[in-house]
Amino acid sequence: MNLIDTLEAARARYRERNPASERQLAEAATVMPGGNTRSVLFHAPFPLTMVRGEGARLWDADGHRYLDALGEFTAGLYGHSNAVIRQAIIDALADGLSLSSHNRREVALAAEIQRRFPSMALMRFTNSGTEASLLALATAKAFTARPKIMVFDGAYHGGLLSFGRGGSPINVPHAYVVAPYNDLAAAQALVHAHGPTLAAIVVEPMLGAGGCIPGEPAFLRGLSELARGCGALLVFDEVQTSRLSIGGRQAQLGITPDLTVIGKYFGGGLSFGAFGGRVDCMAQFDPRRANALSHAGTFNNNVLSMAAGLAGLQQVLTQEALTALNQRGDRLRERLNAVLQTHGVAAQFTGLGSVMNLHGMSGPVHCAADLATSNTLLKELLFFDLLERGVYMAQRGLVTLSLPFDDAACDEMLGAFEDALRTRAAVLRG
Ligand SMILES: Cc1ncc(COP(=O)(O)O)c(C=O)c1O
Repeated sequence: MNLIDTLEAARARYRERNPASERQLAEAATVMPGGNTRSVLFHAPFPLTMVRGEGARLWDADGHRYLDALGEFTAGLYGHSNAVIRQAIIDALADGLSLSSHNRREVALAAEIQRRFPSMALMRFTNSGTEASLLALATAKAFTARPKIMVFDGAYHGGLLSFGRGGSPINVPHAYVVAPYNDLAAAQALVHAHGPTLAAIVVEPMLGAGGCIPGEPAFLRGLSELARGCGALLVFDEVQTSRLSIGGRQAQLGITPDLTVIGKYFGGGLSFGAFGGRVDCMAQFDPRRANALSHAGTFNNNVLSMAAGLAGLQQVLTQEALTALNQRGDRLRERLNAVLQTHGVAAQFTGLGSVMNLHGMSGPVHCAADLATSNTLLKELLFFDLLERGVYMAQRGLVTLSLPFDDAACDEMLGAFEDALRTRAAVLRG
């Protein structure tokens, strides 16, 4: 059988094995468009409905048990039901939820984040990474009184700031200057043309949703100089890369952005986002000032996210734990790539530390355009094959490790991957 027919059979088998998830989508479609409220989760013929998680495991509506290799797209860093975080949430609940006021936990969480990310000298909280990115860019425009934003092809800064596949019709309508990723000369030329009107250069230190393409250190350092040279703010979107070290990718590279955006696991698994940076820029929001910028948000300081985030950072996410997690990710990625090579399959995982993405192609991957030849059917087939072997990852190829995803879990995933490749090698080699 060729790849298309094999995939068709795999889809049919998936459908057969997951009737409860299929029913769930049909019911959901009566109240949500396509039964979906989070586009990234959808795939044909229907996505799984998960009903329970524990540690690094998930169970779906049809009773299958999985190793969770997706880790909530990096937000699930702590795994499911971490005991420390659970207790912090229970304690916070006991003090009441909606205090309509400042609370103590927000200060403690901000202090803990600032200790790890000194560039975030002042910060504000939001409910998501999307909101935090939106606010960071609006802040940069207000601060510089300039209209344009430099972004990178393939970048994702949230549902309204999405630059994959030519951008999105629902992006906020800023005046964007779109540059290719990892191409400093191109960025230089664009800064030459637009420099005096650029409010910000916003960049993910590794393209996350764009396929886990690491930013080359010289490129990111060069952007920092370009921003300084033209008076634009350098905004690092570290929503995904913050987990690469205790101080994020910026600490690893020794780059101090003017503004940083974070989110995901910083809320301990609950809704969270934050943006922060230079005192002079963030002080625009100081409500004691005349003409302060206003940024409200009913749930910005909700006590559950504050409590869960704080407990996670203070009691769970030590330097050692994070280093071990990322080393485990590096090892797993190398081993997965070795298996692909052994079986002669033209595919590879790219990424850094505990965050990686499968691509259906060999050869260098430096920017979004390099992925044009990636074989998405190959990825889809491996996705279904891994599900059947009890491993849950994203169909687009994303794998992110959580703290409970230990060495044994890595071995288990590798075994499943190897078995799938062995079974499919002929069809995958085409
Ligand atoms: C780099 C990056 N920025 C921003 C976001 C948006 O965060 P959220 O999904 O919390 O809105 C994401 C989400 O995946 C992301 O990966």
